[in-house]
Amino acid sequence: MMETTLVILKPSSIQRALAGKILSRFEQKGLRIAGLKMMMLDENLLREHYAHLVDRPFFPSLILSMTATPVIVAAISGVEAVQTVRQMTGATNSRKALPGTIRGDFSMSGQENVIHASDSPENAAIELARFFCPEELYDYSLISTPSLYAPDELTR
Ligand code: TYD
Repeated sequence: MMETTLVILKPSSIQRALAGKILSRFEQKGLRIAGLKMMMLDENLLREHYAHLVDRPFFPSLILSMTATPVIVAAISGVEAVQTVRQMTGATNSRKALPGTIRGDFSMSGQENVIHASDSPENAAIELARFFCPEELYDYSLISTPSLYAPDELTR
C-alpha cells in the first residue's frame, strides 16, 4: 500500500552536515519526497511528539538536543514506506544499529541518533499532521514509478 511517513533530520544531523546525504538515501531507495521544510521545534511540540517519554530521566536532555538547531522535517512516500524507512533508520541506540542503516552508518549515540522516523502507519498519520499543513504535502508522482514498482504493487 502507498504510504507516507514522517522523518525528522535531528539537530545532530544538521550539526554534522549530514542532511543531504541522509535525504539522498531515501531518494536512492526510490522513495518520493512529498514534503520538506526546516523548522525550529519547541518544548510543547516535543512533549506531544515524545509523550511516551516525558517521564523518563533523559527527557530534559532529549529536549535540549532536539532544540539545539532547527531540524528538517520530511514527508517520505512509497509502497510500505513506514516500515521501509524504519528499517533504513535502524535501532534507537546507534551503536546497536546495523551497518547499512542510517543510524548504523552515521552515528554513535542513543540520543544523538541523527533521525526520527514514524514507527507505524497510525503514528505516521498523526505525526505528519503534527509537523505539516495539508498544503505542504505534494501529491505528484515520480516519472520513474514504472521502473520502481510492478503494476500490481501499486494497486494492492
Ligand atoms: P524512541 O521513540 O524510544 O525511539 P525511536 O527514535 O527509535 O523511535 O525514543 C525517541 C528518542 O528519544 C530517541 O530517538 C532518542 C531518545 N532516547 C534517548 O535519548 N535514550 C533512550 O534510552 C531512549 C529510549 C530514547
